[in-house]
Amino acid sequence: MTLSPSAAEAATPESASAPPLRLKGIHKNFGGVVAIKHFDLEVRAGEIVALVGDNGAGKSTLVKIISGLYQPSDGEIWLNGEQVSFRDASDARTKGVEVVYQDLALVEDQPVYMNMFLGRELTKGPLGILDRKAMATQTQELVDTLDVRIPSAKATLSDLSGGQRQGVAICRATHWASSLVLMDEPTAALGVAETAKVEEVILKLRSRGAAVLIVSHNMDQVFRIADRVSVLRRGTQVGTKRLAETSHNEVVAMITGLSS
Ligand SMILES: Nc1ncnc2c1ncn2[C@@H]1O[C@H](COP(=O)(O)OP(=O)(O)OP(=O)(O)O)[C@@H](O)[C@H]1O
Ligand SMILES: [Mg+2]
Repeated sequence: MTLSPSAAEAATPESASAPPLRLKGIHKNFGGVVAIKHFDLEVRAGEIVALVGDNGAGKSTLVKIISGLYQPSDGEIWLNGEQVSFRDASDARTKGVEVVYQDLALVEDQPVYMNMFLGRELTKGPLGILDRKAMATQTQELVDTLDVRIPSAKATLSDLSGGQRQGVAICRATHWASSLVLMDEPTAALGVAETAKVEEVILKLRSRGAAVLIVSHNMDQVFRIADRVSVLRRGTQVGTKRLAETSHNEVVAMITGLSS
């Protein structure tokens, strides 16, 4: 991740204090269906914000907008103080936005390090031969830093558990994100112990200064790891709260629209 001093030094004072992500008045409709009415949010460096809401509330649509898969119908996306618009997902990746999904987009029969560099492989020499050694070394360093417990960066992905694979996906996002990591239900398919490990990795990511926006249906998880929560109900942003200043009941009431 390029959350390095050099990146901070290069920034102007204004952009240095700007949050990695700022959304202003995001609106999205699919023909006559309004998926998101009006959404505002800032995610700061070293902060985890949870995005919650019932099925169909608009959470994934929002993640897809921030990751360049969908264009917003209206509204603005700002990254580190600069307004951006994404042509597509690869454009968003180029601008430093990485996403971790529940379905991992990893390649089963390849080693961990190839998955880390999928589509962005390191090469060497005039013939552009894959630099497997460099990829394996960099992967191992990151896996060790984030304390993702896998046998080795050279292990084949299909030999890893679901939690270990999700750890790899988060490592990959961390490696390539310049400051913002989006996660859409990263632990939905995992058991309790594996979820706990993945949550540890997410907390490590925060301690490295990343801004994390995570969609989760798991209210306990939201309270365990997030700093703030923003609630969507059928496309309407109901509110954004600091977890320290709210309760399970209040968040559930915001999600359902029923008073607690
Ligand atoms: N490509 C699309 N075309 C038409 N409608 C869409 C499209 N994508 C999403 N929608 C609609 O937008 C609304 C929000 O969907 P979205 O997938 O964002 O919900 P979600 O909050 O992620 O739900 P879940 O918790 O089930 O994942 C839904 O009504 C959905 O049918
Ligand atoms: Mg969804």
